[in-house]
Amino acid sequence: MKKKVSVIGAGNVGASLAQMIVQSAIADVVLFDIAGGIPQGKALDISEACPLWGSSSSIIGTNDYSHTENSDVIVITAGFPRKPGMSRDDLLHANAKVVSEVAENTSKLSPNAVIIVVTNPMDVMAQVSMKVSGFDSERVMGMGGILDSARFRTFVAWELNMSPEDVEALVLGGHGDLMVPMPRFTTVKGVPITELISKDRINALVERTRHGGAEIVALLKTASAYYAPAAATYQMVKAVLLDEKRMLPCSAYLNGEYGKNGIYTGVPVMLGNSGVEKIIELELNQQERADFERSVSAVKLLVEKLNL
Ligand code: LAC
Repeated sequence: MKKKVSVIGAGNVGASLAQMIVQSAIADVVLFDIAGGIPQGKALDISEACPLWGSSSSIIGTNDYSHTENSDVIVITAGFPRKPGMSRDDLLHANAKVVSEVAENTSKLSPNAVIIVVTNPMDVMAQVSMKVSGFDSERVMGMGGILDSARFRTFVAWELNMSPEDVEALVLGGHGDLMVPMPRFTTVKGVPITELISKDRINALVERTRHGGAEIVALLKTASAYYAPAAATYQMVKAVLLDEKRMLPCSAYLNGEYGKNGIYTGVPVMLGNSGVEKIIELELNQQERADFERSVSAVKLLVEKLNL
C-alpha cells in the first residue's frame, strides 16, 4: 500500500510540497485547506500533470479533516504568512490558534503519524503541535534548519563560483533572526569554508542567511518564500517515509541535549521512519555556544507568552 501524506494548508508552500511528493511518486497526498475550492483546484491541476510526470501517486483536495485519516506523515503549513517588515515572531498568537486546531483535528485521525511543522514561528508551533497532539516528541518536528542551511549553501556557492551541490552547511538554533549559521561546520567537499573565504565575507554570508526569509518577503511583498521551504520540507518527508536515517538540521524537542530541557530548537538529528531517531550533539566553542543560547532564549520567550 502506498504511504499517505496529508499537507495541511494549500498555500504556496503546501501546494509546492504536494507537487514534489506527487511528482516523485513517494506517497499519495491529501491537500487540506479551510478555503473552499483552493485545495480541490490545486489537487485537480496536480492530478492532471501525473500522466506527464509518469506518476501513479494520487492527490485529493479537501476541506474535510476526515480525509486525512491514517496518514503516515502530516505536514502543517497552515497559518498566516509574513508581510514586509514583519518578523516570524509577529505571527505568534494568530498562528498558535490555527496550528492548535490543525494538530487537534489531525492527530486523532492519524495516531501513528509523524508531524512536520512549517508554520511560523516554527519552533514554537512545533511545541504547540506536540502539546496538543499528545504525541511523543520524536514524532513531532519542525522544518527550518534545512532551509536556512540551503540558503547558506547557496550564498557560499555563489561566493566561490562553485556548485551548491558540493557545499554542505549547518545552521543551528531557532528558525528566527537569531539563528546560528555555523561556518566551522560548513564545507566544500569537506574543506571548511574558513580556509576558502575571508572572515569578513563569511560574516556577510552569515548575515544574509539570517535574513534570507525576510529578503524574499521584501521582494515578493505579498508572499513569503515557498520553493526552497517546500524543497526543504520534502527532504524531511522523504527521509521519514523511506526510513533514510539522514542527518539533517531540524527543530527537535530537547531533553537535556545541548544543556536544554523542554524546548524545540534546530539541531542536527537523524531522521527515519519513527521521526527524530537521534539528536546529534556537537561540541560548540564559546562563541557558538553564546549565539546558540541567545537563539534558544528567544524561542523560550515566545513559548512563555503562550502559556503552554
Ligand atoms: C522563510 C520562512 C518560510 O524562512 O520562514 O522563508
